Amino acid sequence: MKDVYILGIESSCDETSMSIVKNGSEEIATIVLSQIDIHKNYGGVVPEIASRNHIENITIVLEELLSKANMKLEDITAIGVTYGPGLIGSLLIGVQAAKTISLVTGKPLIPVHHIIGHIYANNLKERLTFPLIALVVSGGHTELIYMKEDYSFTKIGGTLDDAVGECYDKVAKVLGLEYPGGPKVDKLAHLGKDTYPLDDSTYNFSFSGIKSAVINLVHNEEQRGNTINKENLCTTFQNRVVGIITKKTMKAIKEYKVSNLVVAGGVSANSGLREKLTEECQKENIHISFPELKYCTDNATMIAAAAYFAYQKNIFADLTLNAMATDTIYKEWK
Ligand code: KG4
Ligand code: ZN
Repeated sequence: MKDVYILGIESSCDETSMSIVKNGSEEIATIVLSQIDIHKNYGGVVPEIASRNHIENITIVLEELLSKANMKLEDITAIGVTYGPGLIGSLLIGVQAAKTISLVTGKPLIPVHHIIGHIYANNLKERLTFPLIALVVSGGHTELIYMKEDYSFTKIGGTLDDAVGECYDKVAKVLGLEYPGGPKVDKLAHLGKDTYPLDDSTYNFSFSGIKSAVINLVHNEEQRGNTINKENLCTTFQNRVVGIITKKTMKAIKEYKVSNLVVAGGVSANSGLREKLTEECQKENIHISFPELKYCTDNATMIAAAAYFAYQKNIFADLTLNAMATDTIYKEWK
């Protein structure tokens, strides 16, 4: 079979990224231009600033990518682009760039759902084995998805309120840690002890409860003139969050009788989560996969990898493709 080279484009949040991936698994070259240094001045991503930066960077990223890969646009088989969910202004820039490249080159356009991209980040390490449960934990999502085969997705659970990454970032903010706080909380969590009375019985299926518990605890201690032990609070918080996620995931694995788990999204970089899930999966004889750290947070490599499997299933879009900010498309994946 002829080799398939996909140009992936990702601009759903604050990373402008393009990548070329061969046959859904072999990275040829990737550029990720992160805007974190700009947004951290505001304590979070400012959508208007993000889209303006995407506009300024997108053609530069394409030129750099082609030069790094030593390829021309003619060498590409198809273009895969994140069309949603994400920040609408940011998504529009990637979608418009993809449509333009498709129009100019005549190459097919493949719409990729951001979360599907995160899941297929695992395919860059080893071929996904089905059936599987995918645990997606990111800044915008906390979801359990059942996959019978490639490109078949059934959402079986998720958070009722905040996404876990969002919860990490808010807890980091209240502790005075810089955006994005997830990795900083993770680091401190390894230095402290689980000492704080954070109760997890009421927020089994929700993260806003634990977030509020941390915020209230910090405010109450401050009002009493007590200093917070950040390390201990991070350890306590991380233990609770990891406990909740692990419990739900292992339950889903049992109920759906699968022996494969893939973990995806920015929070899959979390060392506490990696340790606990690996331990539980070993006990139950479940094969577990995490993406390489560089593919955990947003990147176009995962989008190009996912697009290859959409290509195999003849999932294409025409030039009317539009960006979608919200996540109403799960039902269309089945
Ligand atoms: O997947 P991602 O890059 O963007 C979305 O699609 O949302 O995920 C970003 C999220 C942020 O909330 C960030 O704080 C979190 O992933 N994150 C982590 C870690 N590394 C990134 N959270 C906890 N521990 C980490 N090590
Ligand atoms: Zn993401």
